[in-house]
Amino acid sequence: MIVAIPKEIILNESRVAATPATVKELIKAGLTVQVEAGAGKGSFFSDKEYEEAGATIEPDTKQLWSNADIVLKVNHPVTNETVGSHEVELMKDGATFISFFQTTKEIDSVQKLLAKKATGFSMHLIPRTTLAQKMDSLSSQSNIAGYKSVLLGASHLGKFMPLLMTAAGTIPPAKVLILGAGVAGLQAIATAKRLGAQVSAFDVRPVVKEQVESLGAKFVQVETETDSSDGVGQGGYAKETSDDYKIKQQALIKEHIAKSDLVITTALIPGRPAPILIPKDVVEVMHAGSVIMDLASENGGNCENTEPGKVIITSNDIIIDGSLNIPGTMPVHASQLYAKNITSFLTYMVKDGELNLDMEDEIISGAMFAHNGEITNEMTKQAIQN
Ligand code: NAI
Repeated sequence: MIVAIPKEIILNESRVAATPATVKELIKAGLTVQVEAGAGKGSFFSDKEYEEAGATIEPDTKQLWSNADIVLKVNHPVTNETVGSHEVELMKDGATFISFFQTTKEIDSVQKLLAKKATGFSMHLIPRTTLAQKMDSLSSQSNIAGYKSVLLGASHLGKFMPLLMTAAGTIPPAKVLILGAGVAGLQAIATAKRLGAQVSAFDVRPVVKEQVESLGAKFVQVETETDSSDGVGQGGYAKETSDDYKIKQQALIKEHIAKSDLVITTALIPGRPAPILIPKDVVEVMHAGSVIMDLASENGGNCENTEPGKVIITSNDIIIDGSLNIPGTMPVHASQLYAKNITSFLTYMVKDGELNLDMEDEIISGAMFAHNGEITNEMTKQAIQN
């Protein structure tokens, strides 16, 4: 079977779905690999390195897509203006497509895949289970986003991060608050600690308290009588919280935010808009020059003022960074980890060089959203019906 690795064409995307190392793994699994010319350039992998790993380089985009039995990408399919066609329309009927894919948002692309009777898998839908850990690209990219958000936040801040004793006086450490201590949040805590900041963190799941504290940060917990659950929903992710909890959480967050220099927000509930943890009135109590890095901007943002994709400065001089695709700013490691994740997923489904789709397997059925002209994922089905 031919696996195609197209060049990513959305603006500012420097990642790629295969590295020379993963090309070797795909070939070892009995697959043939074709890489679009220049696909690895943004991540500093040359065509020559892919060739040396055993891939062939295809300069013709249309040819690459129409040759493919399986397409591996970073981003969901889009219209390729250069060839004047949507990427799915370039695919042959019944082929398989795998990438990050918000299937409840990208309805048009889902429908195009259905018309092609293609099999679609979304890396967003890989379950967060122990067995699927090596395929979990949301985690590998969030890890990068958590790390880089601290560096970006620190560079917006007109202050040092660590405690400094100088001849001109003592500089106290910056106060960093992390909202949401999942993958991105924990990495942000670790990075801010390494830079010497004083770090505290919130999460609706009290179970993460131990992890937060083991990284040397203070865990700030909302005490509530009406919500005694562990805050954990389906697939190990957070679930929606009660109104009582939300009121208490907002009061506590407001108190801590007022004292913080840098706030990094990472709160996510899968399939729902990002919860607003920092409404406008809370931004107003922050001190001038403080920074909010809103990692949830892609899903609307955890701060009410956030403008996805932009860095704004409010009238009271708060810098709010809603940058999208932060992993894309570290393309070498972002591609290396993503390529490893997607390769692990694909080779998990390949037996003797052929795709072997075991619908009883929870990773395969969990990540699949389209097969043989049918939608196989419930959330996607609902989004299309509405
Ligand atoms: P995760 O699911 O591992 O962590 C999210 C955490 O938020 C969980 O621990 C959850 O309990 C917590 N949470 C949910 N609701 C909350 C609330 N109301 N208050 C406090 N905590 C709450 O998710 P992960 O992988 O760490 O991703 C975090 C965010 O970062 C997501 O929104 C993701 O889309 C975003 N992200 C952004 C990138 C960018 O370039 N801007 C890149 C990668 C991820």
